[in-house]
Amino acid sequence: MSVWAVLVAAGRGERLGEDRPKAFVRLGDLPLLAESLRRLDESGWVDEIVLVAPPEWEEPAILLAEELGVSKVSACVTGGETRAESVRAGVAEVPEAAAVIVVHDAARPLLPDEVLERVVGALAEGFDGAIPALPIADTVKRVREGVVVETVARAELVTVQTPQAFVAPVLRAALTTLSVESTQSATDCAALVERNGGRVTVVPGDERLLKVTRRADLERIAGWLAAPRT
Ligand code: CTP
Ligand code: MG
Repeated sequence: MSVWAVLVAAGRGERLGEDRPKAFVRLGDLPLLAESLRRLDESGWVDEIVLVAPPEWEEPAILLAEELGVSKVSACVTGGETRAESVRAGVAEVPEAAAVIVVHDAARPLLPDEVLERVVGALAEGFDGAIPALPIADTVKRVREGVVVETVARAELVTVQTPQAFVAPVLRAALTTLSVESTQSATDCAALVERNGGRVTVVPGDERLLKVTRRADLERIAGWLAAPRT
C-alpha cells in the first residue's frame, strides 16, 4: 500500500506579512517548510512526497529538499490561487497506483509521527478520510452584525488540523467532480470529500500542530522547538 504526501506550501502568508511566502520565512535556521518536509521524509507512514511551491519558489523548494538530504520528494509543482487549487496541482502528480494521499499544510511545521499513524491507520477501518481534530475549550456563539444570535452547543464541535488522509481515488474524485466554486470555498480537503458523499472519521489531533498564521504563532513554535519534547 503506497502512501503519498502532498505538502502544500504555496500560500502567500499575507497575515504573517513578511517579504516572502510563509513557507520560506525562517523558523530557527531554516525556512519554515523544512521542518514538516523533514518529518514527512523521516516518517515510516509516508512513501513519497509531492511538494507544492509558490510561483517562482519551485527552485528554492527543490534546493531546500536537496540541502536537507530528503529522499522521498518525487515532484515539486507550482501551486494555485487558493489552497484547493494547490491541492489539486499536487494530487495531479500522484500516480494512479497510490493507495492513500495525505495532505499536509507546510504552515504546521511540528508534525508528530503519531498523528500520521492515526490518520493513515484509521483508513484501514473502511473510512474514506481521516482527519485530526481537537475539542473546543471556549464557548462558541453565532454573531450577526455584532449581536449574538445563538450559543452553539459545543459538545459536537471540534477544530480540525492537517495531516488529513484519504483513500486516493476518493480524494481524486472529489477534486474532479465538484464544481470550481464548490472547491474554492472549501478550507480543507475533508470538506470536499464530505460534499462528495465520502465518510470521514476524526482522530485525536495535537496541540503542537498549531498553524503558523501570525508572528506570535511562529514565536510560539520556535519556543516549542527549542524545548526538549517536540
Ligand atoms: N496554501 C497553498 N496555496 C494557496 C493557499 C494556501 O498551498 N493558494 C497552503 C499554505 O502554504 C499553507 C496552507 O495551505 O501551508 C494553509 O494556508 P494558510 O495558513 O491560509 O496560508 P497562507 O494562505 O499562505 O496565509 P494567508 O492566508 O495569511 O495568506
Ligand atoms: Mg490562506
